[in-house]
Amino acid sequence: MSRFFLVTDDTGFDQRVRQAISGGLPGSVQTLREVRLPATPAELLHHVAGEMPEVILLGPGVRVDEALQLAAVFDVQHPEISLVLVCAVDPDLALSALRAGIRDVLEPAADPDTIRVLLERACHASASRRRNLLPPAAPEGPGGRILAVTSPKGGVGKTTVAANLAVGLGRVAPMSTVLVDLDVQFGDVATALRLDPEHTLVDAVTGAAAQDPMVLKAFLSVHPASIYALCAPSSPAEGDRISGENIVHLLKQLASEFQYVVMDTAPGLGEQTLAALEAATDAVFLCGMDVPSVRGLRKELEVLGQLQLVPETRRIVVNTADRHSGLSVQDIEAVLGAPVDVVIPRSRAVAYSMNKGEPLLQDGSRDPAAKALRRLVERFDPARADQQRRGLHRRAGL
Ligand SMILES: Nc1ncnc2c1ncn2[C@@H]1O[C@H](COP(=O)(O)OP(=O)(O)O)[C@@H](O)[C@H]1O
Ligand SMILES: [Mg+2]
Repeated sequence: MSRFFLVTDDTGFDQRVRQAISGGLPGSVQTLREVRLPATPAELLHHVAGEMPEVILLGPGVRVDEALQLAAVFDVQHPEISLVLVCAVDPDLALSALRAGIRDVLEPAADPDTIRVLLERACHASASRRRNLLPPAAPEGPGGRILAVTSPKGGVGKTTVAANLAVGLGRVAPMSTVLVDLDVQFGDVATALRLDPEHTLVDAVTGAAAQDPMVLKAFLSVHPASIYALCAPSSPAEGDRISGENIVHLLKQLASEFQYVVMDTAPGLGEQTLAALEAATDAVFLCGMDVPSVRGLRKELEVLGQLQLVPETRRIVVNTADRHSGLSVQDIEAVLGAPVDVVIPRSRAVAYSMNKGEPLLQDGSRDPAAKALRRLVERFDPARADQQRRGLHRRAGL
């Protein structure tokens, strides 16, 4: 168990932290002997062996401006981790540190007793934040969760995220997860999963399938990741015949049989997507790291708010994130007026996996994008909530 992670080259301070912990705190400390801070949380956490740390101490010796920048991103991406800045304390700095999401500032010369008290406080803060971040409880009684993946624009990664989400949830609920392609005209779930479906959405919403869930199940395609898929029709004209009412009925039928119904959607707010959002218990809103995409999502959220069509649980995901885009996660949150839940980096492995027709989460990929996608999956896994409650939370992929 490693609850504390320290970034410093100051061996004296390192020693005192170890004394503080051995003098009465459960867990252990791991040190990264560096004064140059990694640029992102993902890069820093890459150095962590085993469990996710609860408290990260930055310094002594690190650059304060870099530490504050990093802390601000941690605050968004990993609010459950408490960050402590170790540097000479002055009131101005303390204020900007707190604003950046730093939990506490500690003098480099602090003795082990002072360090222990502060670390204990940081652990309590981390524990209470973890409790607040628990995924929603499993639905009671019959009826699975219905997850809609949407974005105002195309090419943002809806199909990629929906396919990976379904494959990831297939591990949580094998043979009880279904991916539905509601991009009725140009859907490409079949390509993303390398399926050649015998039946499609049109068969599922017409005839006997619409009356009988058992018939409906026979129209689904089985995928090797222990999930089912319902693919879009092969011609756009066929897709046009599927109404919003058809979709709401279909989703209710599927939710009575499956623990997770994941929907990929067409860009924008067409009839089918509005129907999907009406029936959804959870929505994953996607945007890229560019101004038109973020502005588009803000408009979509505004419209859905007015229509009262924002599902009970809402996750915002930034895809194809890139440090050199000129936009930061904080900029995006400021425009959206809402926190970003998961940031998926741009990755060649994603593009390759989609071209191959094998979603990244189908194997144990350690690619940073796979790790981010697993974090998204965890948001919908009630067992993670139990694990977190019992303090067994492990970082995916490490
Ligand atoms: N994180 C990522 N890194 C790199 N390429 C990505 C990423 N996410 C999606 N892509 C690629 O972007 C393209 C569009 O993705 P797709 O999921 O089809 O978008 P949408 O369904 O929103 O139109 C695909 O070629 C896909 O492989
Ligand atoms: Mg798509």
